[in-house]
Amino acid sequence: MLVTGADGQLGRALLETFPTARGVTRSEWDVTHPAPPGLEADLVLHTAAWTNVDGADDDPQGAAAVNVGGVQHAAALGAPLVVWSTDYVFDGRKREPYVESDAASPLGAYGRTKLHGEAAAGEQAWIVRSSWLFGPTSHNFVRTMLRLAGERDEVAVVDDQRGSPTYVGDLAAATEQVLALPYGVYHVAAAGECTWADFAEAIFEEAGLPTKVRRITTAEFGARAPRPAYSVLRSEKGAPELPHWRDGLRRCLERLT
Ligand SMILES: NC(=O)c1ccc[n+]([C@@H]2O[C@H](COP(=O)([O-])OP(=O)(O)OC[C@H]3O[C@@H](n4cnc5c(N)ncnc54)[C@H](OP(=O)(O)O)[C@@H]3O)[C@@H](O)[C@H]2O)c1
Repeated sequence: MLVTGADGQLGRALLETFPTARGVTRSEWDVTHPAPPGLEADLVLHTAAWTNVDGADDDPQGAAAVNVGGVQHAAALGAPLVVWSTDYVFDGRKREPYVESDAASPLGAYGRTKLHGEAAAGEQAWIVRSSWLFGPTSHNFVRTMLRLAGERDEVAVVDDQRGSPTYVGDLAAATEQVLALPYGVYHVAAAGECTWADFAEAIFEEAGLPTKVRRITTAEFGARAPRPAYSVLRSEKGAPELPHWRDGLRRCLERLT
């Protein structure tokens, strides 16, 4: 079993879940190129990705080289493949959870490249769409909020985007169940939903921090790339159900403290 993106938050969680898997980092295989000679696998867990949403709008071809080209190169190893994709393939106009048969319509370059990457995975692939990933390592919202809490008394957080923050440990643990399903696209995200502001408040509450959250709009925050206002994912195809996001948050914080 080969795990790409081994230094990323999901890559690390997968290597904990599957301790005998081999992890490869960007320094061992830059996935914008074909795999180095001799790299073989019976199953590829492909997590290497361009995940900087604003950066993808600034450099869409760079993002495509990783999110589309990288998947093509992973598929070219010839083994069955798990590819993780994103809630950002949807435009967020729906007000009830997105299921697998809903039409994708990404708002920005990140979502577009991930959607094209889904197609590049070929027929021997499980495409696992998830949302708002967080874990004890790498760049993510939980770690950013904890850092900001050390620097200020109040943090301004967007309150008009809703999703399901998903703990990478729970997503990694669900992989075995995904592998028992037929190839195809599956939605696998934490139970429950919230806004980024709700999530930030829960982080401070669970961590016992006095930091306050000031609720702002997406427009006020002024991120460069557009993001879906609503991107809760649920499965209509029997994909594994994950624990509630707040439960995942508690377990993540236990790892961090
Ligand atoms: N993060 C989210 O909120 C989220 C939500 C839904 C779906 N997903 C998807 O879930 C998967 C895992 O995401 P994640 O949160 O674990 O991402 P992450 O922490 O950013 O990890 C991605 C890893 O890919 C590596 N990488 C980037 N470009 C590469 C290249 N050219 N060659 C080889 N490796 C490269 C990165 O290395 P460097 O550190 O050197 O750049 C990093 O270690 C991705 O497919 C992502 O699109 C993420």
